[in-house]
Amino acid sequence: KLPQPFTVPLPVLKPLAPSATDAQGVHYAMTLRQAEVEILPGYRTKIFGYEGTFPGPYLDVRAGTPMVVHQTNQLPVPIVTHLHGGLTPPSDDGFPTDLVYPKALADMVDPAKAAAMPGMGGMPSMHDPLAHATAVERDYVFPLKQRAATLWYHDHRMDFTGAQVWKGLFGLCVVRDDEEDKLPLPKGEREIPLLITDRAFDADGQLLYPVDDPTLLGKPGMKGSIKAGAQGDVILVNGAPWPFLEVAAVKYRLRLVNASNARRYELKLDGPAGGSGGGSGSGSGGGEFIQIGSDGGLLAAPVTHKSLHISPAERFDVVVDFSKYPVGSTVTLKNSAGDGGTAQVMQFKVTSQAADDSSVPAKLSSIEKLVVDGAKRRLVFALKGDQWQVNGKSFDPAKPLLKAEFGKVEEWTVTSVERHPVHLHGAHFQVVKRASGSGDYDEGWKDTVELSPGSEITLAVRFDAYRGRYVAHCHNLEHEDMAMMAAFQVV
Ligand code: C2O
Ligand code: CU
Repeated sequence: KLPQPFTVPLPVLKPLAPSATDAQGVHYAMTLRQAEVEILPGYRTKIFGYEGTFPGPYLDVRAGTPMVVHQTNQLPVPIVTHLHGGLTPPSDDGFPTDLVYPKALADMVDPAKAAAMPGMGGMPSMHDPLAHATAVERDYVFPLKQRAATLWYHDHRMDFTGAQVWKGLFGLCVVRDDEEDKLPLPKGEREIPLLITDRAFDADGQLLYPVDDPTLLGKPGMKGSIKAGAQGDVILVNGAPWPFLEVAAVKYRLRLVNASNARRYELKLDGPAGGSGGGSGSGSGGGEFIQIGSDGGLLAAPVTHKSLHISPAERFDVVVDFSKYPVGSTVTLKNSAGDGGTAQVMQFKVTSQAADDSSVPAKLSSIEKLVVDGAKRRLVFALKGDQWQVNGKSFDPAKPLLKAEFGKVEEWTVTSVERHPVHLHGAHFQVVKRASGSGDYDEGWKDTVELSPGSEITLAVRFDAYRGRYVAHCHNLEHEDMAMMAAFQVV
């Protein structure tokens, strides 16, 4: 039995306390384990969780201070963690075959025979000297030499990412810096991260995922046709179904993260019309999102949207001014791309007046405009039979699709006849042009961009953080698991 919408309070994510701070950086410890948690009121749902929570712990960190995350895998399956939006050396970037095995499997693994073992995604990593194939725990070191931005982390195991993220292996990471701290944006309790996901549950409140082999140790594969990817009928925000949040009639900063496997949202704010007396400003702009940041941090200048389309893995950092609504009113965050239960996300209840000295400056940051001086490439994302491919190839971790030149600005044109959220590891990029449609959702530095069916997007990208092996892939996790991924080398 599902709860009535807007009856469960929004879980406010609390930063995980570091386990130590030393010359290497700030250290966190996370054990990945099975747990039973209350997601739907009155039910205990079995999950896989970083620290046994759904979502995982919130990492609140500073740019320039390395973050060292010690992970211990107590799950029954291999895992590998990727910091999405992080600029991370290849060894720690969550390459899909750099697996951290559970103890029982690690003890069984004989590297010489592993390639022949079923159930480990073919174990291609066993041929790979970079692989951490028999570890049951490891440190991930994230240098965080990057701007303030909303990141998230999640499992990235080859062929099984969709199933393992669905079970709970995802969490938030916010990187902060001095440039952003100096701005008068809403802060503290008025800065709210919202991790939006959809899930399906059975009658006992257990997560339902359309996988062939629920042990996640056998051959990968999905039940039936899942061209759309795995989607559920329950919308969760920070792990709670259709929650509500009480707000004062002031500005809030909402860090929106679409952490769903495959669902895209078209978000709108639905509340009473501002009217003439509805607070400062135009009075009619109550339903607006003032976008201040995207995947890669602050925009140069704010962009106002009436609606936001947000594809899997994208982030929109927005300010919403609740002073445009009367105290006592409710403002619903709706999803016009959904229907029934998935047409709504959460609700804000405007409960009080309060002072507000925050503002959104007309200039937020400066963004260097990338000018192409390197190779021009085309990446075609396409379904062939039951394989999702990039440039006619299914993912092969051992065969890089291309070599990108370190430090050059390359032009990557990505196209598809289907819909795919395209994500690159190793660098943020800028959208140069879209063959169709407006681009005012594409401002700033991005790491994920949605290709709509039949469209083409041209990106400018400079890999200038680290050399080595990365991946580019569709972030519809079921497409990714069905091989819509390409390895590439930065050389
Ligand atoms: Cu969020 Cu390669 O992934
Ligand atoms: Cu896709």
